[in-house]
Amino acid sequence: MTGNPLDLRPWLAQVKELGELREVRGADWNLELGAISELNVKKALPPALLFDEIKGYPKGYRVLTCSTSSPARLSSILRLPIQKTHKGLVEALRGKPAQWQAEAGKYDPVITQSGPVLENVQRQVDLEAFPSPLWHEMDGGRYIGTGCSVVTRDFDSDWVNVGTYRVQMLDKTHLALDMVPGKHGRIQYEKHKAAGKRFPVAIVFGGDPLGYLISGIEVPFGMCEYNYMGSILKEPISVVRGEVTGLPFPAASEIVIEGFVEPNDERTEGPFGEFHGYYPGKEGKAPCVTVERVFFRNAPILMGSPPAKPPNDYSYSKAVMRSALLHDALIAAGVSEVQAVWAHEIGGARMFNVVSIRQRFAGHSRQAGHILSQCGVGAYMSRYSVVVDEDIDPSNLQEVMWAVATRTDPAIDIDIIQRGMGSKNDPMFIAYPYDAPFSSKAIIDACRPWDHKDAFPAVAEASKELQEKTRAKWKDLL
Ligand SMILES: Cc1cc2nc3c(=O)[nH]c(=O)nc-3n(C[C@H](O)[C@H](O)[C@H](O)COP(=O)(O)O)c2cc1C
Repeated sequence: MTGNPLDLRPWLAQVKELGELREVRGADWNLELGAISELNVKKALPPALLFDEIKGYPKGYRVLTCSTSSPARLSSILRLPIQKTHKGLVEALRGKPAQWQAEAGKYDPVITQSGPVLENVQRQVDLEAFPSPLWHEMDGGRYIGTGCSVVTRDFDSDWVNVGTYRVQMLDKTHLALDMVPGKHGRIQYEKHKAAGKRFPVAIVFGGDPLGYLISGIEVPFGMCEYNYMGSILKEPISVVRGEVTGLPFPAASEIVIEGFVEPNDERTEGPFGEFHGYYPGKEGKAPCVTVERVFFRNAPILMGSPPAKPPNDYSYSKAVMRSALLHDALIAAGVSEVQAVWAHEIGGARMFNVVSIRQRFAGHSRQAGHILSQCGVGAYMSRYSVVVDEDIDPSNLQEVMWAVATRTDPAIDIDIIQRGMGSKNDPMFIAYPYDAPFSSKAIIDACRPWDHKDAFPAVAEASKELQEKTRAKWKDLL
């Protein structure tokens, strides 16, 4: 059986056709690629950027950024009908993650012996052959891996995990891997470390962006992300096995390394600008991969997805994907009448999440808020979880904060959870009153109080019908 090799190039042709690709020549890997990408993504509808003729590198050695930052591109990556609007994308995505997850078991990857990724092999490894950017001024070094997928295997089972973790180039043959405690790759690493065994690693640095989109979201513990991708594509992923680790990677990947973390080889990594918009820590220690092989296509394209103060390269796709996952998680936990969920970009799609519900019983809104804050997909770094009524659009901050300002009594409507799941990467970690990364969390119930709902003051705004009639009649003006 043949499968899908996750080829970036047909997707790029499609994006060009959509008019959403800009080619940029002559930029410098040293801060310029990062700054151009960062400014580009602040535009209303940012195009994807394909950098070529990068200073000091041969023509054809390219870097792609901003790949997922528009509804049209994101819908094409997810194999949904092309959506030009954000609302259309959210509607097209509703219920899909639960379906993809349920069917993932049917799509084990298929092994193939050949593929474009094997066009070139470095056995004398030189990672500097690729234009890894220095993305931000205060970064600890050049990061070859941002929009990447790190492939690892469990110590005591066959489970292969594929996760997006940042990868710093330390020198021509060494990489540092920042996997936060609790992430699946980290768990697999810790088991190898405890047993004193070397930890095999393969890292994919470019390919169909479906790859890094899915390796960057919370696929359940024990499930291989390749299965999940296959479920989206409705066909298995076609993979080749690395010659030194045996780890599988998509056959049309752009650049792949293989190597090992030798027991206890942890080296200085970072600092690095983060998804919430800060450098939360100084440099730390991270597992160091000694690279033994590099495979790459002719004219390889490195996938870049640098974090920064939001909106950043991947905050839009994270907001869309995490909102859909949170919506499904609420339903799976039994919360009824969920209208919509939005994980706001300002909180890096983690720290400020909102759900709208149609209240049906006393206590309904608190149930929704606490589950939003604590469910498996949501708990990590969920600082504020807000619940609003169905007349509020949870993705519209103006409306959400209006509900918070006008429908809450702070003494009653803000619940605080102590010792919840925080992170060493939280900018507030410095002020945590704990020795471990616990963090408190607020649930803001901004719904009209259930027991005074019917007597609650009416909203002073033209009715939906009057608005529609007026818009239709005064189209040119409005
Ligand atoms: C572009 C990008 C960069 C990321 N960088 C890191 C990182 O450096 N370390 C980390 O632990 N998680 C990082 N994440 C988040 C993880 O990819 C995400 O939590 C994912 O679920 C991890 O995979 P796992 O659930 O298999 O552990 C990043 C996500 C994206 C999209």
